[in-house]
Amino acid sequence: MTDKKTGMAREKLVNIHVNGTACEITVPAWRTLLEVLRELGHVEVKCGCEKGDCGACAVLLDGEVVDSCLTLAWNADRRSVMTVQGLGGPGKAHPLQTAFIEHGGAQCGYCTPGMILAAKALLDDIPNPSLDDIKRGLSGNLCRCTGYTRIFSAIRAAAQALRQEGGTS
Ligand code: FES
Ligand code: FES
Repeated sequence: MTDKKTGMAREKLVNIHVNGTACEITVPAWRTLLEVLRELGHVEVKCGCEKGDCGACAVLLDGEVVDSCLTLAWNADRRSVMTVQGLGGPGKAHPLQTAFIEHGGAQCGYCTPGMILAAKALLDDIPNPSLDDIKRGLSGNLCRCTGYTRIFSAIRAAAQALRQEGGTS
């Protein structure tokens, strides 16, 4: 559909690969990736501030962490999105998920999907991060419950587990 005044498209069919599954959906130009993911049933992607402050809506877009509330769905067309469900779950938890549970890194859990994905992007870049690296990597993610110390401990533990899985220490 095009706008009569400008001749520009107002909506289009986009194809977004979410956790490895291709999803086709017709999307208006102004719709955010957060809105579309939740409409597709991915309610594990949380809606917080909707202005880029809290990181609750963070997902990986082609491996890079983005705030889905600030990303237009059109920009995800023919690209890969990972939500926390794509990382792992019951019976096949990712080391980050296990570490968050074991270290008390999640309390109410609202920030946790975004935290874990930001941590995944960090550890993909820096497998053995310092505390400052972790603080920088998580600087876009707010938590009202944990005081952050347990989250940082969880990320350090996950980093160690992942390095051991990869045969390094
Ligand atoms: S909901 Fe996107 S950054 Fe807060
Ligand atoms: S665990 Fe509640 S906001 Fe982080």
